[in-house]
Amino acid sequence: MGGVEVGIKNLSKSFGSANIWSDVTLTLPAGEISALLGPSGTGKSVLLKAIIGLLKPEKGSIFIHDTDLVRCSESKLYEIRKLFGVLFQDGALFGSMNIFDNIAFPLREHTRTGESEIKNIVMEKLDLVGLSGAEDKLPGEISGGMKKRAGLARALVLDPEIILVDEPDSGLDPVRTAYLNQLLVDINTQLDATILIVTHHLGTARSGRRSRSRPCWGRSTSPSRPWATGRSTPTSRSPGSAPALRTTSSPPSPSSRRWCRT
Ligand SMILES: Nc1ncnc2c1ncn2[C@@H]1O[C@H](COP(=O)(O)OP(=O)(O)OP(=O)(O)O)[C@@H](O)[C@H]1O
Ligand SMILES: [Mg+2]
Repeated sequence: MGGVEVGIKNLSKSFGSANIWSDVTLTLPAGEISALLGPSGTGKSVLLKAIIGLLKPEKGSIFIHDTDLVRCSESKLYEIRKLFGVLFQDGALFGSMNIFDNIAFPLREHTRTGESEIKNIVMEKLDLVGLSGAEDKLPGEISGGMKKRAGLARALVLDPEIILVDEPDSGLDPVRTAYLNQLLVDINTQLDATILIVTHHLGTARSGRRSRSRPCWGRSTSPSRPWATGRSTPTSRSPGSAPALRTTSSPPSPSSRRWCRT
């Protein structure tokens, strides 16, 4: 199995007095698709941003190979970020750049690829996400779902080893959602990429073909206690598959469990 494992240990994140995550320990296994499910406002995007080092946790570690992203130098973090392709929840496109330049940006920033090759790659990715013909438009001139797809094309442009996608299905119709889910599964098969999908949508979470469920230990401090409903129980795990995510301390009570489902 290829891909890169992402190991999160005892991660805690607060904003002022608002504690978002406490003591989260989980693994994104190399080359597999994992999904993070939970209601709005419970810290999913915060976790994703912490994984790529955009938000600094107060406690804990995020390991890629032997590097702890929480403690490494800015230059090391810059290097490691090249392994990532990230689709942010809002697409995070540059508003003053057309869609072509948005998608070309990582290639121009991180590689020495020539402009004619960049054009081939960008057009291929545009085709992949169903946006051929939209390359000259500005982000303000396309729909929310199209922005999402443009963001995905940009996330894929470096053929990343780790792909993080935040609500890839929001703003998309069911046909596009099904296509996009299949696309992520295909990319996982082709590139052996490690993929984390953040979603509200159970269908999207279930779309990983190498289906396994695994518990992620940690406490949400959200009043709505997202994963405290008990709806995801260990019985949803594939027969015989051991939980791949472990806590280094005692497992918390069921009322403080979160579940990653692949
Ligand atoms: N930069 C920030 N500064 C202060 N608070 C923040 C910041 N980013 C997020 N938060 C807070 O952290 C909490 C979790 O936010 P987050 O965006 O991770 O939720 P989410 O689970 O992704 O929700 P949704 O499903 O609606 O996208 C929210 O209360 C939010 O207001
Ligand atoms: Mg979010």
